[in-house]
Amino acid sequence: MMRKVVDFLVIGSGIAGLSYALKVADHGKVCIITKAKADETATKYAQGGIAAVMYTPDTYEKHIRDTINAGDDLSNPDIVRIAITESTERVKELVDWGVDFDKKKSGRYDLHKEGGHSEFRVLHHKDKTGAEIERALLDKIKSHPNIEILENHFTVDIITQHHLGIDVNRRTEGITCYGAYVLNPDTREIHTILSRITLLATGGAGMVYGNTTNPEIATGDGIAMVYRAKGAVENMEFIQFHPTTLYDPDEKPSFLITEALRGFGGILKTKEGYEFMHKYDSRGSLAPRDIVARAIDNEMKISGDDFVCLDCRHLDRNELIKHFPTIYAKCLSIGIDITRDMIPVVPGAHYICGGIKVDEFARSSILHLYATGECASTGLHGANRLASNSLLESAVFSHRAALDSKEKFRNIKLREDIPEWNAEGMILNEEMVLITQSLKEVQSIMTSYVGIVRSNLRLQRALERLAIIYRETEDLYNKSILTVKLCELRNIIMVGYLIIKMAMARKESRGLHYSIDYPHPKKDDHIPTGGNGLSDY
Ligand code: FAD
Ligand code: SIN
Repeated sequence: MMRKVVDFLVIGSGIAGLSYALKVADHGKVCIITKAKADETATKYAQGGIAAVMYTPDTYEKHIRDTINAGDDLSNPDIVRIAITESTERVKELVDWGVDFDKKKSGRYDLHKEGGHSEFRVLHHKDKTGAEIERALLDKIKSHPNIEILENHFTVDIITQHHLGIDVNRRTEGITCYGAYVLNPDTREIHTILSRITLLATGGAGMVYGNTTNPEIATGDGIAMVYRAKGAVENMEFIQFHPTTLYDPDEKPSFLITEALRGFGGILKTKEGYEFMHKYDSRGSLAPRDIVARAIDNEMKISGDDFVCLDCRHLDRNELIKHFPTIYAKCLSIGIDITRDMIPVVPGAHYICGGIKVDEFARSSILHLYATGECASTGLHGANRLASNSLLESAVFSHRAALDSKEKFRNIKLREDIPEWNAEGMILNEEMVLITQSLKEVQSIMTSYVGIVRSNLRLQRALERLAIIYRETEDLYNKSILTVKLCELRNIIMVGYLIIKMAMARKESRGLHYSIDYPHPKKDDHIPTGGNGLSDY
């Protein structure tokens, strides 16, 4: 068993983990753990871009207002102000690190506009912005002598007093993180990595649902780890469904058709070619995502069709191909020429607004544990995330986490008395079907009962079905030699449970959480955010 000691343990190699690592690496030894290849992240698949205030007529106040409006007034205004007013600086830093955002002939950035934005403010690299960011950050990371990356290593749990035999519950004060237990799937060994400071940057949880834009790594591991460690998790009911993923039942995860294409003039239509968005919102195809996704869901229910369409046929052919080469090529590969054919689209699970509760320096409720990126809940997004605010949030709060970590880490003592992971008596589970079938069932339950439109009855049914799979999976976990798939299933169930419980607790329709039992949103009757009131399993 390997035992490693570092100053900073970073779990995740997307924009959140990498940008933090680059900032702390000049001060101490950094180890980045990533469960797949380093670039296999949601970051790599981001298309539209990163929102930031760059030029007039845009202003910080306008971006702040758009963010709060999209969030249905549930965002934390102080956090929104921090994120937006620091946006320009963070974008300039990405450029300094080598990210190449598209420019116009004039030399100014070519800014796009997406749903809910009142100005053009989305910096992009064609329609593959995330891949460009991931490339630039990894290039810098790989040449830094203080940073080690362990690829294909899976973090099972963060280490706290619980692992020293001390009883920890949700009311315990001073729960402290000492590092993490990490599985090497090749050897089946679980390593103990001790750290002064740990950052969770484990990304989202789209795999909880059957149809998602998220890569397979998005299984909510960090959120589940914190909840198991009795840390605070909040706002899990706010799942963003992207309105336009390419309809192709044979492809998982679903390919995203960026919202920037609607910003560029693409129009949503039924299969028969009728525009429908004006029935739902005066902003038409560029209304905020929750409204567009619900409208599409409704149109599909009315018509019985499996998809609606995005029509780009009226747009300038050359410009369309120049700005959206990846989408053009992808659609062409399945026989759709977007300059001549409408693109069949359906909504898919895309982003989780809630997660590990953190403060303005990304500190979680567990000491010496920070969380940034999609796994964290800073309060920026409220009940719905404004498009392209996620890469921005990751950059801003990883920066702030780094500032706080650099100041504190020298005064944090390493704990040498942490025991090795105990795998005594565990047996190898030879029946993969026990895991794959349960995963399909969870995804089906969540898609059918906890999707774009919910009800009290559907949520209750989902909870009862999930409880059965939870018990079966815990039994398996308690006797098995650990595998990545088993741990991921366990985390997906945990995240599903948190989404359902928090959706049940929210007795209103708000932002991304829409329930037919509360059809008329009550703006002044907010329930407080914060997820610590949930019962444990
Ligand atoms: P990720 O980039 O997902 O990285 C997570 C990392 O954690 C991975 O390295 C993974 O291997 C690792 N990890 C997870 N669990 C474990 C574990 N147990 N052990 C070890 N490692 C682990 N946002 C925007 O702002 N603009 C966009 O244009 C945009 N487009 C998007 C398009 C798509 C198709 C998708 C899926 C998302 C898009 N988003 C966009 C959202 C945005 O990309 C993500 O929210 C953001 O990239 C998250 O970054 P992250 O660093 O938090 O996580
Ligand atoms: C998109 O390009 O439509 C995705 C943007 C985002 O998720 O922020």
